[in-house]
Amino acid sequence: MDFHKKLMTTLLLVAAVGLTSTVPAAAEQFSPYVDASGNVNFPEGFRTSMVHLGSWYVPQGDASGFHDVYTERESVEAYRRTGKFPDGATLVKELRASQSGSFTTGQGVSYATSGLKQWFVMIKDSKQRFPGNPLWGEGWGWALFKPDAPRKNVVSNFQQDCLGCHVPAKDRDWVYTQAYPTLGAD
Ligand code: HEC
Repeated sequence: MDFHKKLMTTLLLVAAVGLTSTVPAAAEQFSPYVDASGNVNFPEGFRTSMVHLGSWYVPQGDASGFHDVYTERESVEAYRRTGKFPDGATLVKELRASQSGSFTTGQGVSYATSGLKQWFVMIKDSKQRFPGNPLWGEGWGWALFKPDAPRKNVVSNFQQDCLGCHVPAKDRDWVYTQAYPTLGAD
């Protein structure tokens, strides 16, 4: 009997250790840019590792210039199949200053310069992995990075900092997909 009890205890311990050690791995699988507490890290190297979905041009104001939007190749492929962003999908919107001038294509031609303004990031989470965390909700994690500290997410509350302006896109899962023809079948 004693031997069996000991054996069972050992087996349970092994199982418990096994389970706890899989938790960080699962979080990593969900997104390489999100840690186990739901902190969002800057998606380094996104310009070459991700696909350019589309761009916006904002003529004036603080946000003026080009807004270039990126996501993973796998997320594009999943969206084309299902019409939805898969869990862990990353959307990056990079804001760049612009210049315009005359070129052989015409006058008043605008182009993005190397003047980086800021980066907006959304990460898809349909499973409410971080309840109570003010960076997560409505099916997404929300983050904003500025050039003076690009590794620090400055969002303190997504409802105040982000959500209001995305209400017009609510029926598109909060994403302005009309500007991303790459998500369609071409
Ligand atoms: C002033 C209004 C406004 C605020 C505040 C705002 N957004 Fe947006 N966001 C927009 C609009 C409009 C677009 C698409 C058009 C554009 O970029 O001009 C957009 C696009 C995006 C995109 C590209 C994908 C998409 O939805 O089309 C991301 C990512 C994004 N926003 C994240 C955020 C995050 C994260 C926050 C909070 C830190 C935030 N936004 C706050 C208005 C806003």
